[in-house]
Formats: sequence, C-alpha cells, structure tokens
Amino acid sequence: MDGIYLDYAATSALRPDAVTEAVVRYLREVGATPGRSGHHLALEAGRIALRCRAALARTFGAEGDPGRVAFFPNATYALNAALHGLVRPGDRVVRTAFDHNAVRRPVAVLAARGIGETVIGGGADGSVDFAELDDALAGDGRPARVLAIPHASNVLGSVLPVAEMARRAHAHGSIVLVDAAQSAGHVPIDVMEMGIDVLAFTGHKGLLGPQGTGGLWVREGMEIDPVWAGGTGGDSMPAGMPDAMPDRLEPGTLNGPGIAGLLAGVEWLAERGIAAVHARETALKARLRERLASIEGVRILSPAAPDGVGIVTLTVDGIPANRLAHRLDREHGVMTRAGLHCAPEAHAVLGCAETGAVRFSVGWATTEAEVDAAAGAVASIAEDIRETSPGARG
Ligand SMILES: Cc1ncc(COP(=O)(O)O)c(C=O)c1O
Repeated sequence: MDGIYLDYAATSALRPDAVTEAVVRYLREVGATPGRSGHHLALEAGRIALRCRAALARTFGAEGDPGRVAFFPNATYALNAALHGLVRPGDRVVRTAFDHNAVRRPVAVLAARGIGETVIGGGADGSVDFAELDDALAGDGRPARVLAIPHASNVLGSVLPVAEMARRAHAHGSIVLVDAAQSAGHVPIDVMEMGIDVLAFTGHKGLLGPQGTGGLWVREGMEIDPVWAGGTGGDSMPAGMPDAMPDRLEPGTLNGPGIAGLLAGVEWLAERGIAAVHARETALKARLRERLASIEGVRILSPAAPDGVGIVTLTVDGIPANRLAHRLDREHGVMTRAGLHCAPEAHAVLGCAETGAVRFSVGWATTEAEVDAAAGAVASIAEDIRETSPGARG
C-alpha cells in the first residue's frame, strides 16, 4: 500500500493475503450460493458459510450451535435487525452517549414510532455512571426492554464495562445488545462471561474480512423477529419466515465471497490469538500517544484506555480537523479520519462536537516506524502552523 494507513477503525483496508486469496478462490472455484441447490458447489459454499459461523462463534466465546450466527451486510444492518426485531410497542430502549449512529439512528426511528428512549451520559475517560444506568433501566415503572452498549467507542477507543452493565440490565429484565463493531478482532470477547444476549459485529474492521460482511450472534433461547422477509432456500411453503436460526434472519442470497474472506480473516486472528493482537495494538497506541503528546499545539482528547482499542483522537491548535487530515494525507501520505465519526454525542462527551477531531487508528499491520512517521508528520504541520499563524499558539 502507498502511504501510512491509520484508519483501521473505519475499515481494515489492509488485509492478510489469506483473506484476498480466500475471496479469489471462492469466486474462481466455488461461486455458488450457500443454502441454495444441492449440487457439489452449493454444498461447498454451504460448508464455508457454516465454518465461518462456527469460527465467529468461537471468536466470541459462544458455546453451542453456530447457527446462532446470522450474516448481514454490516454491523448497521445487524443492529437495525436486532433493535427492530426485539422492540415491541410500549417498550423502551436505553443506550449510551458513546453510541455510533448505527445505534442512535435506528433508536431514533423507533422513538418516532412511540418507543421510549433513554440515553445515559458518559465521562471523557470512557466511564459510565452505574447509578444513572440503574435509574435509566428502571424507568418510571417501565423497565427497559433493551440496553444497547457499544463494546468499544469509535471516538474514545475506550472499552465499556459490559459485564457490569449487563448484570444490572438483567436485574431489570432487559436484553443486552452489544455493538462490537470496534472491538471484534481487536479485544477478546466472551459473550458468556460478559452476559451478552445479542452481539452485533462487522466483518471489515478488526475481523479483517471484506466489506459487505457482518452479522449477529444471538443467545440460545432469545428470538429476534425478522425485519426482512424472503427466500431462504429451504422450508419454502409457509408465507412467513422459518422459525429456525439463522434462516429466520437471513432472507435472500448471502455474500459468499465476503463470507469466505471473513472466514480467512477470523482464522488468521485465531492463529495469532486476539489477546496477542490486542497487546501489540495497545503498545502501538501508547507509542503514538506519547509521541503526539510531546508536540506543541496537539490536544489529545481520547483517554489512554490501555484496555481499549488502538484509537487516538486529537485536534491541533490553529487548524480545523478536516484540513489537518487532508494535509496529513496529501503532504505525508498519512491516512486518518476527521469529523464526527458518525458519533456526535461521543464528541460532545470529549467537548469537540462543534469542531470534530482527527482520529488515528492502528491495526494488525501497523508498524512502530509508521507510528513514528505519523507523529513526525503531525509535528511538521503543527510547526508550520505556528510559523505561519503565530496566533495559533496554545
Ligand atoms: C461503534 C460502531 N458501531 C457500528 C459501526 C457500523 O459499522 P458498519 O459500517 O460496518 O455497519 C461502526 C463503524 O464505523 C462503529 O464504529
């Protein structure tokens, strides 16, 4: 790749060769659709999809039936499916100020139809106030049906205390829906230990698969009403969707090549171990923070969060976030992401909802040399700003 890619939180644009090879192999040698037809190519496609479900379930620490993993095109569709499929008239959803629009907006759609919505605040250190959470879950005699938790914030990079939040949610009879878009593949997940009922994941970030992949893991005994309906390849007679997972949630043709690539990404991670990946990315993040923090005019907004994901969010005095990201790319080949990152409330928590910020995010292929070069690029731009507009001084 040309340049220094530090936008892994948006998508893992760099993928292990095994992922690309699996997609190409699928297109060249398999090509058929899982769950459709009975010929040998369709059966091979079905085996790949099943292996991917099983590998994902293992990645999430889920015991039992791999059919509890349903595929969707991304985390956003998965979260919409979960929220719309779990919530009934009269229900209420509790969510957090750290949410991505993939949760915030579906909940807003539900709220416009009369569903209750309670948003709990958050601290700039990534903390959650448990007393506020308890009050929100209890409501005014109408306990929340769903508590939606982002496992890791895509702006702060911090990890939320999911296990404790889940324990409190279950005490009120609420369902725990976790958005693992930023954590899956970066941070170990154990749905059983963490008390997760429904987990939404995306395939193209930490799990290293291609775009167009993602899905839901749904705890056994928990059923989500289908939002979309259509052909499932089997059990075709009833007009309604089949009861059984994953068909219940998967109308239409699956993304076979994407699923093959996702399987390769998940297997690559399993070989290395997600804990090892996390340790490496944490060290790179710490190095990046340290170097950036020493630059005059740099304001690091995201907390150190050593147990979190590899995100550093900042502003530089005297230059708007979009302009900084543009200069980093054009002048130094450093790719980051500027703006509100589809999570304006998280920016409000950090006090930068008006200005936005620039997010640097490391991933599996990031090197120390890249981190150092990126910090050097910020230093050079910050110095240039100080020289050309002295009023920008801190
Ligand atoms: C926390 C969080 N949730 C959900 C999403 C949505 O993921 P996707 O674009 O794969 O639907 C993202 C992606 O940026 C995210 O960071």
